[in-house]
Amino acid sequence: MGFPKEFLWGGATAANQYEGGVFEGGAGLSTADVMTNGSHTVRRQVTWKKSDGTIGSTPLCFGSSERHLPEGAVPCIIEGNQYYYPSHIASDFYHHYKEDIRLCAEEGFKCFRLSIKWSRIFPNGDDDKPNEAGLQFYDHVFDECRKYGIEPLVTLSHYETPLSLAIRYNGWNDRHLVQAFVKYASTCFRYYQGKVKYYLTFNEINCIDAAPYVTAGLIHADPQNIANAAFHQFLASSLTVKEAHEHFPELKIGMMLAYGPVYGYTSDPKDQLLAKQAEDATLFYSDVQMLGKYPNYKLEEYRRNGITLPTHQDDLKTIASFPCDFLSYSCYGSHVVTTHMDEDTKAGEGNGAMSRTVANPYLKTNAWGWATDPDCLRIAANTFYNRYHCDQWCVENGIGWNDVLEDNTVHDSYRIDYMKANIKSLKEAAEIDGIPMMGYLYWGCVDMVSNGEGEMAKRYGQIYVDADNHGQGSMKRLCKDSYYWYQKCIQSNGEHLD
Ligand code: BG6
Repeated sequence: MGFPKEFLWGGATAANQYEGGVFEGGAGLSTADVMTNGSHTVRRQVTWKKSDGTIGSTPLCFGSSERHLPEGAVPCIIEGNQYYYPSHIASDFYHHYKEDIRLCAEEGFKCFRLSIKWSRIFPNGDDDKPNEAGLQFYDHVFDECRKYGIEPLVTLSHYETPLSLAIRYNGWNDRHLVQAFVKYASTCFRYYQGKVKYYLTFNEINCIDAAPYVTAGLIHADPQNIANAAFHQFLASSLTVKEAHEHFPELKIGMMLAYGPVYGYTSDPKDQLLAKQAEDATLFYSDVQMLGKYPNYKLEEYRRNGITLPTHQDDLKTIASFPCDFLSYSCYGSHVVTTHMDEDTKAGEGNGAMSRTVANPYLKTNAWGWATDPDCLRIAANTFYNRYHCDQWCVENGIGWNDVLEDNTVHDSYRIDYMKANIKSLKEAAEIDGIPMMGYLYWGCVDMVSNGEGEMAKRYGQIYVDADNHGQGSMKRLCKDSYYWYQKCIQSNGEHLD
């Protein structure tokens, strides 16, 4: 007994990294649209202007310790060639969606994850009426998916808060965004009724801590702002679930967590305690969204730091009454933490997406330091099932590589090896541990701009896109070796892995 018959195999994308067409169809800007491209060594920057005409840029992305724009700086696009904004063209899904969905269908996808760009539907985030052209664009995309029997999975907010809300309200710091989001979600539910069944509220909600601008549109992010933003997203998520349950009972609304098992580097209990605390810092977000209440350790941490929750009457009751219908997660590998920072451990400092991590001597990493852990999905599945006993779905897993094009294809055996090991681990969770699972989605199935680095060179896709770090290229799509491997894997419902 392997994966269930109805297992949802497929791939995942996000508008700000993939869609492009930023100035088309009456769309408004999102926080991602004022972020420049970065590289292996240079962080992405948010560009800004002040009223005296001064311009500049500040890294507010993953891995950056900066948390604020300078006083009076307003994020905006700086015209001219000085900066390049990768989200504006990205992989041009806006004009290639028919071709991409056809290729995914031929690969065997049962599910295609995409995000709706909120500011394509409500250009300022809180307009009175939705933008019809924006609604229609995704409607065409969903029709195309349905044509091939592909189930869309829609993320309502994937690192793309409407820029206007970020500027006017300091993003999710303000309660105003709660109602604006619920109205946006409800507009989508109504418009796409019968075409979309599965929604996720916030992508990797726990990344508010590591990347508050990216995750919650915070232009100024002190610990109180971060707590406010998390609270408002929890509340918005619960009210979205409530809206769905009351008016669209056929829908399933999920939460989405960035997860990677955290190991202690040594058997020193201090390292094990640190690992547990690091996991708890992540699981706090799923505790609230799946169990409906703040865990004690988090409330104590807030109390110690003088942080208060911006609750109004009945808010906590709403959060308790409307947890999400299922849990979804990204899982790319694992992390290691230690209290023993010496020459050995320092060598691996900064590995992967998590701070305070060190290299794992047992695991291989890619060029960006992300450790491939062949057991991570089984550990993830057990962690979630044992804690929440809920339906779960791995909606992101994959490996970034500086692919080389040869004979009009990419011989990406490294990607096949990665997928083989990871899917095997998930299969063990289903087969040996008896954990029910909804599906597996490979991240970045079609090449797209990386989120952390803002570069195209960090490719995840099984489908190659001819575009470089500056948006130059024909945008031609080419199938890599991994495309054919995944096709066989899906055809056999995960039985054919070798
Ligand atoms: C997840 C995000 O964190 O990881 C995606 O949900 C992102 O948006 C993916 O692209 C891979 O990260 P990166 O930085 O390599 O693009």
